[in-house]
Amino acid sequence: MQGRTRVPGDKSISHRALILGALTVGETTVAGLLEGEDVLHTADAMRALGAKLERGADGLWRIHGVGVAGFAQPAVPLDFGNSGTGSRLALGAVAGCPIKATFDGDASLRKRPMRRILDPLEKMGARVVEQAEGGRLPLTLQGAADLVPITYEAPVASAQLKSAVLLAGLAAPGETTVIEAEATRDHTERLLKHFGAKITSKPHGEHGRRITLQGQPELEPANVVVPADPSSAAFPLVAALIVPGSDLVLEAVMTNPLRTGLYKTLAEMGAKIETLATRDDGGEEIADLRITASQLKGVEVPPERAPSMIDEYLILGVAAAFAQGTTRMRGLQELRVKESDRLAATADMLRINGVDVQIEGDDLIVNGKGTVPGGGEVKTDMDHRIAMSALMMGLASEQPVRIDDSGFIATSFPGFVELMRSLGADLA
Ligand code: S3P
Repeated sequence: MQGRTRVPGDKSISHRALILGALTVGETTVAGLLEGEDVLHTADAMRALGAKLERGADGLWRIHGVGVAGFAQPAVPLDFGNSGTGSRLALGAVAGCPIKATFDGDASLRKRPMRRILDPLEKMGARVVEQAEGGRLPLTLQGAADLVPITYEAPVASAQLKSAVLLAGLAAPGETTVIEAEATRDHTERLLKHFGAKITSKPHGEHGRRITLQGQPELEPANVVVPADPSSAAFPLVAALIVPGSDLVLEAVMTNPLRTGLYKTLAEMGAKIETLATRDDGGEEIADLRITASQLKGVEVPPERAPSMIDEYLILGVAAAFAQGTTRMRGLQELRVKESDRLAATADMLRINGVDVQIEGDDLIVNGKGTVPGGGEVKTDMDHRIAMSALMMGLASEQPVRIDDSGFIATSFPGFVELMRSLGADLA
């Protein structure tokens, strides 16, 4: 793995930029938007709700929004494809509009829990008119013109849940507060500030935050620059660590501390990741990173680190398999409700390729031997990150690794195969 590259824009920020642009009167521009299928579904949903979104030939997105609580009744069901983020954030944004909207998605999204989002939105005054069993998609939400602000103590560490409540809170008069026991990614808070909303965030307990938003702001159109996605950068980064002789530079990777738990963990494992240059771009810290092949060792990953690396356990599992010694990743209950059951999927992916791995309660234990036999075919289960993690494992395993379906990679990382090949990866 050799060369210099930049992975596509951050998925979380891309969804949020489109949704906030759609809630703002005037022209918002977004540079570096992730044009993956998940985000394009959100763009289509914003159009169906009355906002105008266009992509210029220069790649810049221009959004003319409708204003807070200004969404129009959509004529068609909103299809969010594979995307938990798009659907959950949009539920929050729709809750404060006096319209009825149906939310739907693919077979994977239809299995994912939505009750955690609907509970606070119902407390604020939105109504669920129809829903599949357990509050799942497809569901129809009736928004309310007179939403009430709430103080909500999040029962799970979820940035999507926090963001849905805050986006609903935009439409409610007075202060909406979300209390999280463990801080989750704060892109919604940063972007709300960037669009002119009044929002404060204070420490709460040992690892948490208390976030308060002043409702009914006049959002101001903004220019958003989307940095490279650290969750996407994780794939070439781990590949460079495990493929002998690698020397790779990843440019402009977002290094928001609420997203870089994997980077911290890999450093503890002995990874050689050098920060070449840091800067601030559009309200987020970014850095160019140089990665060289490294002999890794097993470590213990504490449960409180999970929110800052929640999408990275699959690829950490791969790194752990190539490490010497045991890596214990603790407190992974939220992995069970991702695009697939990622706790089981990580174990299956590794086991079928000859790695010694166990699940104990909510912990994943990987006994690394420094090498991986490979030779297995991994079932990707409509999950982009299983597909990419398995392929990275195959770059360094003794026998190649196969995956059953590469189609879902395009949800978050369009051009993944071409980018990896340009760095020397042998993907056929
Ligand atoms: C995301 C939050 C996380 C993460 C997802 C993106 C976001 O989900 O897994 O890929 O953009 O807010 P949860 O909030 O459900 O943990």
